[in-house]
Amino acid sequence: MVRVTFLTADGQRVAAEGEAGQRLLELGQNAGMPLEGTCEGQMACSTCHVVVAPDWFDRLMQASEDEEDMLDLAVGVTRTSRLACQIVLDPALDGLEVRVPAEARDMQPR
Ligand code: FES
Repeated sequence: MVRVTFLTADGQRVAAEGEAGQRLLELGQNAGMPLEGTCEGQMACSTCHVVVAPDWFDRLMQASEDEEDMLDLAVGVTRTSRLACQIVLDPALDGLEVRVPAEARDMQPR
C-alpha cells in the first residue's frame, strides 16, 4: 500500500491509498482531486500538473525531457512541479505529499 496526501487549492488535506504500479493521476482522480488528465498520460495536456512537496521531489524518478517541456506550458508551475500521469507509485513513495494547484482545473479558453 502506498499512502499519498493531496493538498487541495483551498487548503484541505485529503489522504488516499494506492497500490504500487498505479499512477498518481489515477489515485488523485479517485480521491476527487480536480486533475483532468485530458490526454490520459500522453504528456500532451498538463492538466495533471501537481506540485510535489520539496522533501519528496528528489525521491521521485527524474522527469523526462518531454515532461519538462509540457510542464513549461502549465500554469503556476514551480520548481517541484510534476505531471501526475508520469509518477508511478511504489512502496518507497509511501507518505508522498503533493499539492493540486487551483489552475489545473480550467485550462480551456472561454
Ligand atoms: S494527463 Fe495529460 S500530461 Fe498528464
